[in-house]
Amino acid sequence: MNKTIPYGKHWINESDIQSVVRVLRGDWITQGPFVSQFENQFARQVKASWAVAVSSGTAGLHLAVLAQNLKRTDEVLVPAITFVATANAVFYAGAKPRIVDVDPQTGNISIEDLKRKINKNTRGIIPVHFAGNPVDLKTIRKIARKHKMFVIEDCCHALGAEYDRVPVGSSEYSDLSVFSFHPVKHITTGEGGMITGNSKLIQDRFLKFRSHGITRNPKQFLNGESGAWYYEQQELGFNYRITDFQCALGMSQLKRLKSFVAKRRRIAEKYRMAFRDWPEIECLSENPDGKSSYHLFVVRVSSGRGGVFEELRKRGIGVQVHYIPLHYHPYFKKRLALKMGQLPGAESFYEEIISLPIYPQLSSFEQDRVIQTLRYVLTQYQKRR
Ligand SMILES: Cc1ncc(COP(=O)(O)O)c(C=O)c1O
Repeated sequence: MNKTIPYGKHWINESDIQSVVRVLRGDWITQGPFVSQFENQFARQVKASWAVAVSSGTAGLHLAVLAQNLKRTDEVLVPAITFVATANAVFYAGAKPRIVDVDPQTGNISIEDLKRKINKNTRGIIPVHFAGNPVDLKTIRKIARKHKMFVIEDCCHALGAEYDRVPVGSSEYSDLSVFSFHPVKHITTGEGGMITGNSKLIQDRFLKFRSHGITRNPKQFLNGESGAWYYEQQELGFNYRITDFQCALGMSQLKRLKSFVAKRRRIAEKYRMAFRDWPEIECLSENPDGKSSYHLFVVRVSSGRGGVFEELRKRGIGVQVHYIPLHYHPYFKKRLALKMGQLPGAESFYEEIISLPIYPQLSSFEQDRVIQTLRYVLTQYQKRR
């Protein structure tokens, strides 16, 4: 029996392990020098002015939304096809997510529906670069400016992607960008996340927020006291810190980002070539103004996902579905009073999608197995019809 091929997988090499071990043997395990070194390297990588590392992508999204000082009646637009964390960040910050339909050709937020969902309470947009394919940031920025809204890019799928020849995460067309370093993502720190941006003022706020709202910087003290022991809590923050050994792993992984993305793009290209003449399979389209970093390779099965998914799983192909639309989840249904049929793009997308294996160490042989198994399963289904 062949081993199951997962849909995504991290790649830790000996040099990654050695960089973590070096930190573990040193004096600092957390809050040492590696956190800011990782932040500086990451900011350079995505061409942002700064980066603040946190304990997860979810923590990063929470802080990014919290910094917008929202009221209970404020609304933030989020796409229906995303991981729940995108919308939960709005709930955490005490406001209301408003679910926007997606474009079934890409899985990215629908610009038409986004415009329709803007009302007097709308304060911001959190577009998700679904599967690593950049959203149309210039158009989103234009709409946001017109309505005085913030834009926080959920870049959790998109490290290594480009939009308008600039790395995603530069926040050139947005206020902030947020990344995740969960193991299936482009680089990993186990759990971990990063916020990037260009406004210095908000960077200082995130540094406080991630550590209980505390500052140790004498220039920021409000009480007029000082001393080597002294610190002040100035806002209500959290323990969203990341450790030094995680950041050492992050830096070591970051060195290989370029080759990780190149490998993902090669795998994507081979899938596209293979499915070129298959009428049952449609690949998602890539933004012509960008370059996807292919966190996922999602295909649409025109006859519906139906039993194809189960058959692939039975044959050792570890396919997944990204994502169950937000309004299908009981929590969102209840809190936002949403009904089926209200987001037709996301609903038809969900019926058809399957995420095929894609990760840098996926061998050509394994990818051939995925393609051949999919071919076999689809043929069996056609015969039965
Ligand atoms: C689109 C999206 N947003 C947010 C998150 C949350 O990131 P994390 O798992 O690091 O908290 C994820 C992670 O799966 C994600 O895919």
